[in-house]
Parts: sequence; structure tokens; C-alpha cells
Amino acid sequence: MNTDRPDKSAAVRIQKAVFPVGGLGTRFLPATKAIPKEMLPVVDKPLIQYAVDEAYAAGIREMIFITGRHKRAIGDHYDAAFELEYELERGNKTELLQLVHAIKPDDMDCVFIRQPRPLGLGHAVLCAERVVGNDPFAVLLADDLMVSPSGGPSVLQQMVSSFESRPGIVLAVQDVPHEHTRRYGVVDVRGVGDRVAEVFGMVEKPAPEVAPSNLAVAGRYILTPSVFDSIRRQPRGAGGEIQLTDGIAALIGMEKVYAFRYEGTRYDCGSKEGFLQATIDLALANPELCETVRAHMRAALS
Ligand code: UTP
Repeated sequence: MNTDRPDKSAAVRIQKAVFPVGGLGTRFLPATKAIPKEMLPVVDKPLIQYAVDEAYAAGIREMIFITGRHKRAIGDHYDAAFELEYELERGNKTELLQLVHAIKPDDMDCVFIRQPRPLGLGHAVLCAERVVGNDPFAVLLADDLMVSPSGGPSVLQQMVSSFESRPGIVLAVQDVPHEHTRRYGVVDVRGVGDRVAEVFGMVEKPAPEVAPSNLAVAGRYILTPSVFDSIRRQPRGAGGEIQLTDGIAALIGMEKVYAFRYEGTRYDCGSKEGFLQATIDLALANPELCETVRAHMRAALS
């Protein structure tokens, strides 16, 4: 074990974010037969846009999408829509036009890379290697929708701040009920700060009896470029897929790996339950919708 290796990530800013969107989204079939899961809207915004907005709020300007078949809609969402913009302009619909322009601010760059086959999250991240280059970068899974406390920094922004004061790999973690550890990657930690703990081990989907803690990894990561070689070295993991967890776990002891307990709520929008919870909570938080939704829920539940 070598923990004294000089930390190459020191004083580096996170400028690139990777969005692996190459999964098949089978839990949402038939909706996801032709539409990517990441384009499913929660209230009025597709999941991918919540994640990209979160990265933008964290100061990141280069967005790298790892796409698969049937994912063209994501590219279209971040492309100009000439006819739509022309019609909105002609109709003096300034607010709507601003809404459309805000999807991709002028200072944001988008890169699309095709994952040839959905071989797993680790493989999707590996597809970003050439574009990421040699700097630390963020990974956001758009199906984990993160809502930070009102007016507070986005979850990724919190992680970037943590990275700036303590460089290394940063994993977003949350406390989960002990009986749910089987659903997540779970970390073995020793505390170093209020929200930060150093990771000494990582187990994918452990049974509650053997889970090292109740801290589960959520879909936000800050990774160092050494993760690429590490992923490449791993044999196929759980479900025959090339797993990101395995690539990160193999770096523990060679690099600093931190668990960051973020402030905010995570909705697992890859599952129907989480998607519905997000929809209800975000509709209730929307001033235009909350009264109608409240009234409807009261009537539906009475
Ligand atoms: P999931 O485990 O949720 O898989 O992937 P999935 O295919 O998207 O959905 P289900 O389970 O079939 O319903 C977690 C994240 O990793 C991405 C997915 O797009 C999602 O953001 N992913 C997964 C890839 O980009 N490529 C892959 O090969 C696998």
C-alpha cells in the first residue's frame, strides 16, 4: 500500500463532466423503447437537463455525453432548434425563447461519444478517456436526480468545494436504512471531517449482515484519470458488466478516496417509485403547480 504518492490532482479545477447515458433503461419499458430514459421529464425538464444544470452550477463548462442507440434525442436537446426559435421569436414569446436558450448557455461545450455496446457503467466512463485527458473530472448519473436545499449549492458544487480543499477521488454518499444496503455500493470509512470521510473499502450490493456501514454511493463522482487504467485492469464484475465501482475500489490505498455526505435529496429516477416521488415533490415545490397538485392529492386520497 502506498499512500505517500504525490497527489497530481492538487490545485486542479474540475472542468469536465461525463454523463453516461448509454444504458438501456429496461425498468422503464415500454416508455424507453425509442426514448432515452434520461429524456423522461420530471415536471417540465428532462432528467439529463437537471444533471447538466447541476454541473454547470458547479462551474463546469465541458459536458461529455456517453450515448448509445436511441439516444439521439439527447443530442437534439443540446442542439439549436432553428424552427422552434424562429416561431417563438416571431410570436414574441420572449420568456419561452429564454427558456430554450438557457438549455445550452453559449459558454457551454457539448461532446457526444458513442458507447458501441452497453457493457456497463465502467465501460461507459472508459469511453470518455480521450476527451477527458489527464485531469480530474466529474461523473453524473442523470437518473439520480439531486435536489439541494433551496438557495444552497448544488450537490456537485459541494463536492467540487470538498475536492478543492482535499484533492482525490470524491464519492457522493448518503445514509441508507441498514436493510437496504443490498441495493447500493457501500463504503467502509474512517471520518476526517464533518461531511468527509476517507474510504478504506467498497463493497458492491452487500447483504446487511456484512455491509461495512450504512453509507451508500450515489450517482455523483469526482474521479482522477488513473481510474481509466484501473477500470481496464478489472475483470467483468456483477452482472457480467464492466463496473465503475471495481475500478475505483482497486485504487484505494494508492490514491486518496473520500466519501462525501452531501446536503440534499437524491431521487432514484431509474426506478418508477423514485421517479414518481421526484415528480410529486418537485410539483409541490413549484409555485404554479403546488395548489392544484395538493388539491388533487387530497381528493385522490380521501
Ligand atoms: P443502470 O444500472 O440504471 O442501467 O445504469 P440502465 O440500463 O440505465 O437501466 P435499467 O437498469 O435497464 O433500467 C446506471 C447508469 O449508467 C449508465 C446508465 O445510462 C445510467 O445512467 N450506463 C449503464 C451506461 O451509460 N452504459 C452502460 O453500459 C450501462
